[in-house]
Amino acid sequence: MEAVQGAGRLIRERYDTDFAVSHKGVINLVTEVDLASEEMIVAGIRKAFPSHSILAEEKHDDSPAGAVRWVIDPLDGTTNFAHGYPVFSVSIGLEIAGEVEWGAVFDPLRNDLFTARRGEGAFCNGSALRVSEVQSLGAGLLATGFPYDIHTSSENNLSNFCAFAVRAQGIRRSGSAAIDLCHVAAGRLDGFWELKLNPWDCAAGFLIVREAGGMVTNFCGRQGSIYEREVIASNGLIHQEMIAVLERAHLESR
Ligand code: IPD
Ligand code: CA
Ligand code: CA
Repeated sequence: MEAVQGAGRLIRERYDTDFAVSHKGVINLVTEVDLASEEMIVAGIRKAFPSHSILAEEKHDDSPAGAVRWVIDPLDGTTNFAHGYPVFSVSIGLEIAGEVEWGAVFDPLRNDLFTARRGEGAFCNGSALRVSEVQSLGAGLLATGFPYDIHTSSENNLSNFCAFAVRAQGIRRSGSAAIDLCHVAAGRLDGFWELKLNPWDCAAGFLIVREAGGMVTNFCGRQGSIYEREVIASNGLIHQEMIAVLERAHLESR
């Protein structure tokens, strides 16, 4: 919690200042603030837990993983951050023997600290979280995102987006998957789906959704791991409808 909040404060201080931006791909950016945030988090963890391994998005990957591994997104929502669009977060999950046991996501502009420990519930600033009770997709507010290879890959989520757009009450694209997942946990969204995510986008968020009573699977309905590249996270009540829409969109796009 100290690490996500410390890094979140750093990011908030650097927001709206001049910082260097470079490209990891045609539309995939990284800023010097992503790197500074990661350095700060990794230094704190290494100091407190020198024997643990780390998988962080930008520079740190102690593969093969040790028994205890920290999975870190130092700035989720980099495109937003680089443009001054006010939606971004820091996400840290703690994996023990392959299972995420703890998760924390901090939204530094709203000052929302989302936390969960496996089997002990999910919280936002200390208050218990619970997914929504929306019963049908037609009454549901969803979120999604698009992969960085959208310009060149046909697996780009656009047919899924069209299929949901005409069936859900609404769809949002926040630009931070970690925040989307926390908003499902908090009942602010009813469902989320995305493909080609990375473990650091999901490590904390999946646990937070599950601990808030929600469901996280792949597109076939099988319990999703943070290493799978597709995800549906929902309040559980609209999950089957979401699977059916994705199945149909898949068949129709062939
Ligand atoms: C991205 C965000 C975005 C999602 C992308 C992610 P980044 O992470 O979570 O919402 O649509 O798939 O890669 O690059 O800002 O850390
Ligand atoms: Ca991310
Ligand atoms: Ca990131």
